[in-house]
Amino acid sequence: MISAGICASDGHIKWGHMKTSNLPMVLGHEGLALVESVGPEVKQLQAGDLVLTNIMSQCDQCKDCQDRSSNFCEKDGFQIRNASTNKKLEDGTGVWGFCRLGVFSEYVLLKQSQVVKIDPRLNKENCCIISCAVMTGFFSATNLAKVSPNSTACVIGLGAIGLNAVFGCKFNGAQNIIAIDINNSKKAIALEFGATEFVNPQELDRPVEQYLKEKYGGVHYAIECIGNQGVMESAFKALKPTGTLALVGVGGKTLNFPAIEMLTGRTVAGGFLGKKRSDEGFNQLGEMYLNGQYNIDRLVTHRFSLEQINDAFQLLKEGKCIRSIIVF
Ligand code: APR
Ligand code: ZN
Repeated sequence: MISAGICASDGHIKWGHMKTSNLPMVLGHEGLALVESVGPEVKQLQAGDLVLTNIMSQCDQCKDCQDRSSNFCEKDGFQIRNASTNKKLEDGTGVWGFCRLGVFSEYVLLKQSQVVKIDPRLNKENCCIISCAVMTGFFSATNLAKVSPNSTACVIGLGAIGLNAVFGCKFNGAQNIIAIDINNSKKAIALEFGATEFVNPQELDRPVEQYLKEKYGGVHYAIECIGNQGVMESAFKALKPTGTLALVGVGGKTLNFPAIEMLTGRTVAGGFLGKKRSDEGFNQLGEMYLNGQYNIDRLVTHRFSLEQINDAFQLLKEGKCIRSIIVF
């Protein structure tokens, strides 16, 4: 591993918001690495290749993988918790890997489909965040929600994921981009990434969905980047009659929407990594970074060694970072 980002999804496991009995587990899924060596059946990679780790690995043979409009593979599947690695503790106990990856580790043993080869010029520590935050946020706006030009979009939750969603809305030409967060320190960076307005719902005198209805007649797109059930339901209420709610945040249990309100043409969309294939998405984003079109460096606010990882999680919990990365 070269570097790895600390995502709130890792935090959900560490802090017990998302339960798992598969312990001990190595967390970490957002990573940049150099291939150290390959097994005899690996044909598409060789030692020295620069790669990003991929939570949505695809076998590329099954029907799902032939359908290029999605990134879900029934065969390789997506396993967030049920994920054994070849690591073992000294006493022989097997070790699990978050998303089958577990990249908070100097070395990882992965399948070919769990990494994507990228341009060697992206060998910069900050580029690890392309593999989750940038990919998820950007493509949740551009590919999952399919934000259209001149539209009104809101993004709720301005962590690294949400800020990339804001940028995706701007990239696709949205006219009004309302960035919503309870933490006012996210305002300046949200405006930098393309928001036209910042709203702190706790400082409004009415529910944020009512505010959005009154000011904009509702939104064409609402992108939830927290994983909070109440926020998801409020975002649904903010939609125009044909609006789309994109669910990005991990969490929330059973959502309640009045079925009749779906019949005017509302859509609720979901999909990890913005439902975009990693091989296409990582390379497109990498190119945008190299062309100076995407300020990925701005999103990495802190760097830690692996030994300091608990300090990095604490910073995330306190809302004092955008993205922290572990540098190996
Ligand atoms: N209303 C508005 N904003 C909120 C609320 C709320 N009720 N609760 C939290 N937030 C804001 C926080 O202040 C923070 O800025 O949401 C943001 C979440 O950002 P991070 O914790 O940095 O999370 P991030 O890594 O961006 O991940 C966001 O996507 O991948 C998933 O599991 C991940 O569910 C998480 C989400
Ligand atoms: Zn497949």
